[in-house]
Amino acid sequence: MKAVAVRPGIPDSVHLADLPKPSVDDIPDGRGVLVRVLKVGVDATDREINEARYGKPPEGYDFLVIGHECFGIVEAVGSAVRKVRPGDYVTCTVRRPGRSIFDRIGRSDITSEEEYYERGINLRHGFLTEYFVDDEEFVVRIPPRLKHLHVLAEPMSCAAKAVEQAFLAQQRLQVWEPKRAWVTGAGQIGLLATLVLRLRGIDVWTLARGPKEGNLKAEIAEGYGAAYVSTSDCSLHELASRYGRPDLIIEATGHSGVAFECMEVLGHNGCMVWTSITGGERTVQVPGDQVNLNWVLGNKMLLGSVNANFRHFESGICDMALGEVFFPGVTERILTHPVDGLDNYAEMMRLLVEDPHALKVYVNVATE
Ligand code: BGC
Ligand code: ZN
Repeated sequence: MKAVAVRPGIPDSVHLADLPKPSVDDIPDGRGVLVRVLKVGVDATDREINEARYGKPPEGYDFLVIGHECFGIVEAVGSAVRKVRPGDYVTCTVRRPGRSIFDRIGRSDITSEEEYYERGINLRHGFLTEYFVDDEEFVVRIPPRLKHLHVLAEPMSCAAKAVEQAFLAQQRLQVWEPKRAWVTGAGQIGLLATLVLRLRGIDVWTLARGPKEGNLKAEIAEGYGAAYVSTSDCSLHELASRYGRPDLIIEATGHSGVAFECMEVLGHNGCMVWTSITGGERTVQVPGDQVNLNWVLGNKMLLGSVNANFRHFESGICDMALGEVFFPGVTERILTHPVDGLDNYAEMMRLLVEDPHALKVYVNVATE
């Protein structure tokens, strides 16, 4: 079986590897689900793994199969599997449990262990291959009428979790009715978070560097009924003083400078969620006394959110479905850059590294 892999630690080592085809019996107790991979999305995490910034191979391997956003069709199931049947469209969660209490209650997305196990990212092979098998616990159904949104289920799960975490954390206030939200960054997480928040009736401002005119990201944000603002035209401070401070910020630029700058503009009792994975070495200067003072006097909350468990996948998929009803045809516009076949892995990586218009790169692995 073909697979797209990297040699962790060696920059730009993406290559075609060979793996044996898995079988349902690889998973004990009849809980295996064998999936034929149809499509796999790639994102900045795959790029940074290929740049050797992080990512480790599974034990016994010197390569790591990448790709953690999958869409496939169930080919066979073990005798104990009830959730899915052959022929169902599915995706799969990314993280696998370690040993902490959170891992043992199905919340590996908030594991307290430093080492984490993630398919396609750390210590577990990913999905950029022809077949994979996993425990039914980690397999999530995708309704046939959403199959055109395929690989977006995984990034959507992260966006859904980020918003859910904000609402859960804000229960500290007893009453929290956010009116205005900012989403910083208009990549896949930023746009999908925009959708989740718009579905909750919140006034959303999606902020990113690119100009508004002729910009697909702006069109998608506006398609969801959000306001798109180019931060090249208007700084965060200007925006806050002109239109008011936000009650909620979902930060998804991938830039730690913006993450810290947002701390200067969040409103009283506000919540900010950091979702950017910043694998670099950037340092930033912050007006420490002012931020500290305002955060204390304003009872503000900052939380980090990573990954998602199967419940976040399910709620994300529900929101994608609702999104199709409220804003038909908008979400699929995120899926900009298909690449045909695993053999074309070099083109896949080139788009990811070089093409500023590649909002979403994904590989068509097989047809049904
Ligand atoms: C993935 C998450 C993962 C995170 C950290 C993201 O790209 O979508 O599932 O937890 O990287 O590795
Ligand atoms: Zn990702």
